[in-house]
Amino acid sequence: MYLRLCILFVLLTALVGAEPDPHSFSRPEQAQVTHLDLDIAVDFQKKQLIGSASWDFQLKEGNKIVFDAKDMQIRSVQADGKYLPFALGPEVKWLGQSLTVFVPDGTKRVTINYATRPEAAALQWLKPVQTAGKKEPFLFTQSQAILARSWIPCQDTPGVRYTYDAKVKVPPQLLALMSATNPTEKNAEGVYSFRMPQAIPSYLMAMAVGDLEFRSLGDVTGIYAEPVMMEKSAYEFAETERMVDAVEKMYGPYRWGRYDMLVLPPSFPFGGMENPRLTFLTPTVIAGDRSLTSLIAHELAHSWSGNLVTNANWNDFWLNEGFTVYLERRIMEELYGKDYADMLARLGYGDLEHTLEETPSIDTHLKLELKGRDPDEGLSDIAYEKGYFFLRSLEDQVGREKFDKFLREYFDDNAFGTMTTEAFLERVKNRLGPDLGVDKWVYSAGLPSSFQEPVSTRFQQVDNQKERFFSGTTPSELETKGWTTHEWLRFLRGLPDTTTVAQMKALDQQFHFTDSGNSEILAQWLVTAIHVGYEPAYPAVERFLVRVGRRKFLTPLYRELVKTPEGKERARKIYAKARPNYHSVSVGTIDEIVGWGE
Ligand code: BES
Ligand code: ZN
Repeated sequence: MYLRLCILFVLLTALVGAEPDPHSFSRPEQAQVTHLDLDIAVDFQKKQLIGSASWDFQLKEGNKIVFDAKDMQIRSVQADGKYLPFALGPEVKWLGQSLTVFVPDGTKRVTINYATRPEAAALQWLKPVQTAGKKEPFLFTQSQAILARSWIPCQDTPGVRYTYDAKVKVPPQLLALMSATNPTEKNAEGVYSFRMPQAIPSYLMAMAVGDLEFRSLGDVTGIYAEPVMMEKSAYEFAETERMVDAVEKMYGPYRWGRYDMLVLPPSFPFGGMENPRLTFLTPTVIAGDRSLTSLIAHELAHSWSGNLVTNANWNDFWLNEGFTVYLERRIMEELYGKDYADMLARLGYGDLEHTLEETPSIDTHLKLELKGRDPDEGLSDIAYEKGYFFLRSLEDQVGREKFDKFLREYFDDNAFGTMTTEAFLERVKNRLGPDLGVDKWVYSAGLPSSFQEPVSTRFQQVDNQKERFFSGTTPSELETKGWTTHEWLRFLRGLPDTTTVAQMKALDQQFHFTDSGNSEILAQWLVTAIHVGYEPAYPAVERFLVRVGRRKFLTPLYRELVKTPEGKERARKIYAKARPNYHSVSVGTIDEIVGWGE
């Protein structure tokens, strides 16, 4: 009976369209936007964006259109030169408010005049000291998952796509950039125009304003960075054009014109964000040796998985991230060989094991149930790594050739559209075969019993050296020649809880981890240092936490600190200093870990 009801439900939703997005007030089945004209000015003194969003839309039913808005001042709404009545709904946790505009028959466009609040969750306003150049202020946005509504009133669901044009006014010494066609130079007026001719969902709206310059890296690739960061950045990301070529060969044309990247100040809360035409990047991937560029492969891959074929809502998030990790590792394999990609997969598996241990079993399904919750809660290694291993299991079962063809057609057939988990599984069953065990992967906890751990041959040698160290070999005698960041991460992640302070000291003397300029290595080392009480690293912990705002690094460090009463004390002291440097996304997470405001 239950099964029949389920089938009926699937059929019905297929007939009337997908279920409504639980994280948006908008009702696209009644009225759906198609194009945005944004006209805003950036005021650093007031920490405010002020201007208008004009939306073209299609009215399908009734006489209203509903938008999402959060912490925003709506001043007026107009259509065809007349003021329109509008209503803001009650504030709902995480979601903000509905903005309902009542429109006469035949209305095709409304203009919303608005201003943001200084605490708008998507925006981070940085003082000059928080930038690399220290001379000019900086502003950046982070819209995914549901923060676009805090800087533009919009239908904030990945199920709605639209094209946009924008005009942005900034102080004349600064350059403005968006997820769109971008200027390469400042102009005296400080007024910049943008065009995004491909339809995108709201979570890919992005803007940055700062003392920025441009350098070309290849035919379609280039980098934006603060002047003092340019040299290092251009070196680090020089191989991006080769990555574009590699994905195009496997999965079809890059459909977005240019692929440029922007290096942000260190408070950027993520490693990268796949804003179309302009990936946003943390400076913590600049290691000096190009060893962390799988992150570029990842953000670039989103130009197919995510930006081109988009998860219908955040319950299907694994469709964005699992596919992207799969593509990322295929790109890395193309460029640097199977050994290299195997190391990435093995490290990913380690993360997944860890996440599986600490995640409630219902949240270890690929398909999530995030209704009534912050979609941020779905942002875990489950979507990324379990998603990856699921796709890899399909590849293993049907063979690479067939699977690549399947993926290529998937992107072509669904380009500039949305995808649900159910529709994807249907496609797998129809095109690859009915018996690939897909339901187990998607609707059950953990990993299927048939799953086999990935192997990395290069890590076997690392494990041997680790064993030698713990059976008394001094660090200088370890065979570590030629180790890349990934071998070091394997080594450091494998340090047991029982590692002694003396052993930490010996390792530090030989390999200088506490002074490492590689943020992945440093962050991992510092977690262990806190865990075993290796005090010489404590000042480095504080420096790192105050400077860097990347949540992936902050979370394990604060979690480790708060495990003891003294550590918690220290965590709170450091956090008091560091908190003003973090973006709201990181503040939300760390407040909870250290019990801020309790
Ligand atoms: N799109 C994500 C970042 C994101 C996800 C922001 C959900 C907000 C909500 C981005 O592509 C990403 O996955 N970044 C990772 C990089 C990585 C896995 C290589 C990150 O920031 O660590
Ligand atoms: Zn991603």
